[in-house]
Amino acid sequence: MLSYLAGVSKPVNGLSAISTNLRHAAFRLQANSRCTTWRSFQRSAIIGVPTTSGSTVNPNSSHAAAKGPIGKVQTISPLAPIGVQAALLHAEGPSADPALSPRPKIFEEFSLNGRVGVVSGGNRGLGLEMALALCEAGCKAVYCVDLPELPSAEWEATSAFVKALGNSSRLEYVSADVTDQQNLWGKVEQMADKEGRMDVCIAAAGVLKAHQDCLNYPAEEFREVMDINTNGVLYTAQAAGRQMVKFKQPGSIILIASMSGSITNRDHAWVSYNTSKSAVLQMGRSMACELGPLGIRVNTLSPGHIYTKMTAAYLDKQPHLLEKWSNMNPMGRLGRSDELRGVIAWLASDASSFCTGSDILVSGGHHSW
Ligand SMILES: NC(=O)c1ccc[n+]([C@@H]2O[C@H](COP(=O)([O-])OP(=O)(O)OC[C@H]3O[C@@H](n4cnc5c(N)ncnc54)[C@H](O)[C@@H]3O)[C@@H](O)[C@H]2O)c1
Repeated sequence: MLSYLAGVSKPVNGLSAISTNLRHAAFRLQANSRCTTWRSFQRSAIIGVPTTSGSTVNPNSSHAAAKGPIGKVQTISPLAPIGVQAALLHAEGPSADPALSPRPKIFEEFSLNGRVGVVSGGNRGLGLEMALALCEAGCKAVYCVDLPELPSAEWEATSAFVKALGNSSRLEYVSADVTDQQNLWGKVEQMADKEGRMDVCIAAAGVLKAHQDCLNYPAEEFREVMDINTNGVLYTAQAAGRQMVKFKQPGSIILIASMSGSITNRDHAWVSYNTSKSAVLQMGRSMACELGPLGIRVNTLSPGHIYTKMTAAYLDKQPHLLEKWSNMNPMGRLGRSDELRGVIAWLASDASSFCTGSDILVSGGHHSW
């Protein structure tokens, strides 16, 4: 058994020599943590008790260096056996355990069942759409943080819709300014204490101002945009990350940047917005490197043009921009808010468990031209 667990058993006919029963038993012992390390899996298999270690395996250890069909695998999916590993196990013969019968698992990987999220800018627009996606994916509670004292009619309708989904999920609304670091930390701490966890953070609050020539850009307005779009994103990510650490759990932090962080929108004098979004891209990479060892993933999501109240300030006043913006990507149209649901569910869930420090561009190909 130990040699199997260390991954040194010899393959027979392309499969491990371990007996089918033992392999099935080992997979039944999968740990209940979302990032089970190979070593903790080994320990759980040996002592028969699942562990919840979130630490990583030293790649120089004998386990990591071991040869064999699974010898280079340092972690194991909470849904193991999964993928080709499940197929190979199945090929060894049927299991007496119905839980190990072949079944599709791809959508289970996207499940957020029982998790808790916080979304800044969640009173409307992309933030609210993303909050709803988290609820539909199974979060037990998603807290929307935004400026107004009371939530919008749009938020109320979405909250009622979540209740009607019947999956025990709920939306909560909390009024807070993301530029007030201490207040935000305190509010998110209260959420996490109430729920007993914090798993997902989406920092979506942001502003886009009117055109201002870069050589005359007023200092006060530049500071204001940076304070909300960059500093506020940091404070939001900190607020949630501190709770993930406090509760000793892995988590996913998604910073909403923009394609404007890596390209300049043609004919638009948006130096403050573009600068603030570039900073978010580097913030994401930097935080990902610091927090990776703690099992907290940090990625940025960079949408292209999508019609919301933010962009309506341009599109409604200058209708020619609809065609202009649409023609700037190969899809020939603007994106829809709901077209971010999939990427949010992927980034928030274990389906993206090896993705951190990345920027995910969802721009209809705007960058490709
Ligand atoms: N709509 C797009 O085309 C597009 C494209 C790329 C990136 N984005 C980004 O997506 C995010 C959401 O944008 P949206 O289009 O939904 O805009 P939106 O204006 O509809 O929503 C932004 C929300 O942020 C909130 N907010 C602003 N300042 C705040 C503060 N200090 N504290 C708390 N909340 C605050 C607003 O009240 C609002 O509810 C923004 O970060 C934006 O830059 C949008």
